[in-house]
Amino acid sequence: MSPSPKPLLATLRGEKQQIPPVWLMRQAGRYLPEYRALRAEKGGFLELVSDSEAAAEVTLQPIRRFGMDGAILFSDILIVPMALGQDLWFETGEGPRLAPVVQARAVLEALQLAPEALAPVYETVRQVAAALPAQTTFLGFAGSPWTVATYMIAGQGSREQSEARRLAYRDPALMQDLVDRIADCTITYLLGQIEAGVEAVQLFDSWSGSLSPAQFEQWVIAPTVRIVAALKDKAPQVPVIGFPKGAGGKLPAYARETGIDAVGVDETVDPAWAHASLPADLPVQGNLDPLALIAGGTVLDQTVDRILAAFVDRPHIFNLGHGIQQDTPIEHVERLLARLRGSR
Ligand code: CP3
Repeated sequence: MSPSPKPLLATLRGEKQQIPPVWLMRQAGRYLPEYRALRAEKGGFLELVSDSEAAAEVTLQPIRRFGMDGAILFSDILIVPMALGQDLWFETGEGPRLAPVVQARAVLEALQLAPEALAPVYETVRQVAAALPAQTTFLGFAGSPWTVATYMIAGQGSREQSEARRLAYRDPALMQDLVDRIADCTITYLLGQIEAGVEAVQLFDSWSGSLSPAQFEQWVIAPTVRIVAALKDKAPQVPVIGFPKGAGGKLPAYARETGIDAVGVDETVDPAWAHASLPADLPVQGNLDPLALIAGGTVLDQTVDRILAAFVDRPHIFNLGHGIQQDTPIEHVERLLARLRGSR
């Protein structure tokens, strides 16, 4: 096998690589000193995201430092509720806050997409696309409707997504309208990213793990089917990665039913089970425990080797099972990359 000009994109299209391409979820972020410096200069996370030049620079930082095979757009899944008119801010040391919470129809009806709110993101995409090395694949992303809805309903991150799950039982029609509205906005947003220059997109469904199987069908699989179909209609050449974190035993159904081109697998899933249970030849992305990366040393090496061995017979994109944490030593990322690049 000769190396592809864009190994990550080729893998997403089903081509197995000798050495799996690699990128890390949240690879642009607080574990990097160059990120912390630029964020301090700009004053905050949202200021950084809305400054296209700075956001493009942050997107490129891990590419320059590590030569990752994928660059992921620097933005956030909560830009969609913001574009729908929900106030968004970040509490220092805590996380995102949204107001007012969407628990009643009147609040939902007041939300309307303001397309101009997404314009700085598209400008970031254009700047990154112009600056990226030829072998690097540019990934756009959005949150999946269910995960975005959990924040819109609770106003912040929530334990076991209880508020959203309660609302889904109490008023499924309202929940459906909310999910549909987020899905419509997500389709517009991802098509905008594609038009501006991303080459593949990932749907982050970070909180799909708390749903019962029937709810998973309704709030994760069904909206994903709709989004993927709409993207394929307009941009059939752009691969879609679905990442239903915590889906566990529901992964095979997700992979079969949604139409996604690749599936992200979190660290709680045994890679050997994933390989045996997922459709043959479906590209798989994952699934190093972010805490094994923090641990480093032989624990890291052994975990990496086990993942490589499990996915050796299918297209595999090496990644974490969830976002990189801010106390991750940079030398451990370097050790991981050296292990991967010397693996075959
Ligand atoms: O992967 C990347 O490098 C691209 C950028 C990216 C960010 N957020 C930047 C970010 C992506 C893809 C996301 C997705 C995202 N955002 C998710 C889904 C993936 C996941 O990790 O589960 C979720 C749930 C969010 C919502 C969100 N944004 C939370 C809960 C937080 C606060 C917690 C935290 O880790 O700080 C954010 C803030 C955020 N988004 C930061 C970054 C780099 C940290 C902001 C800072 O610099 O203080």
